[in-house]
Amino acid sequence: MLNEQKVSYSGVQPSGNLTIGNYLGAIKNFSAYSELYKCFYCVVDSHAITVRQVPAELRRRTYETLALYIACGLDPEKNTLYVQSHVPAHTELAWILNCFTMFGELSRMTQFKDKSEKHADNINAGLFTYPVLMASDILLYQTDVVPVGIDQKQHVELCRDIATRFNQLYPDTFTMPEPIISKSGMRIMSLAEPTKKMSKSDENANAVVYILDDKDTMIRKFKRAVTDSDTVVKYAEGKDGINNLMTIYSCFTGKTISEIEKEFEGKGYGDFKLAVGEACADALMPVQEKFRQILADKAYLEEVMKKGADEAAYYARKTLSKVKRKLGFVI
Ligand code: TRP
Repeated sequence: MLNEQKVSYSGVQPSGNLTIGNYLGAIKNFSAYSELYKCFYCVVDSHAITVRQVPAELRRRTYETLALYIACGLDPEKNTLYVQSHVPAHTELAWILNCFTMFGELSRMTQFKDKSEKHADNINAGLFTYPVLMASDILLYQTDVVPVGIDQKQHVELCRDIATRFNQLYPDTFTMPEPIISKSGMRIMSLAEPTKKMSKSDENANAVVYILDDKDTMIRKFKRAVTDSDTVVKYAEGKDGINNLMTIYSCFTGKTISEIEKEFEGKGYGDFKLAVGEACADALMPVQEKFRQILADKAYLEEVMKKGADEAAYYARKTLSKVKRKLGFVI
């Protein structure tokens, strides 16, 4: 907790490939969040290099990610938006917390196991200690809540274990963070296999709709969405494909499920799929327009990054000095 205001902290990977699941499940709700908490959003470029990156692409995606979040409604005046490598306190605290994290704990992380399989030729120490850097991100800001997807829950739990261990040795150092697992984002399923969550890394391009897909692509993907052999637009058990499309349509239009059932009474899946594609495009075309405007204004983006990093560094420095003092470093 900082100055009586509760803190929310989230890290976002520098990838422009955000899906409508990310948008509907998380990003769209960010503006409501900033009314409740002091919010930090960090583009985690230091985390990104745990797997090999093409330098020009990493740089481009860092700008794009920031521009996309702003275009989706994240107001840089009301939130602290910054780039991880601009605040060196993150890596400094990460070293310290490495000395309070056990080899066995890190070995149990499922993301490490998955990524080691996927990048078998590059199982580097950074990939192994990735969760310690993430714990540093969170603990530096005396964070109360961490909005994350379910895949990051284990990392937040490890962060809590590290904080507990540190606080036992050096009382009152870190605030204990709670994960907040987003609900509705989990409900947006793949268009190809509607029992599976829509994932930005899905190999089947038709399974995923990206925020930055053009209108024709969006409509084509919805047209090809897997449904069932029934013909009635109705939310029911066993109709996973249609249920998913109804959820998406409902999120974009604000209509309830029963309103949607009425709207498409007597119409087939073809008409419905087209309507979902159009509703998605109508909602996201203005976001894309804003994204392009912001991205074209590098000076503005750099100003946002700079202001964010200065603000973040102010809070980070306070925690880091406290940690160093407690450890017995001469400061
Ligand atoms: N590891 C997170 C992911 O891959 C990103 C992240 C880094 C993060 N630092 C964080 C998320 C701190 C929440 C809090 O999605």
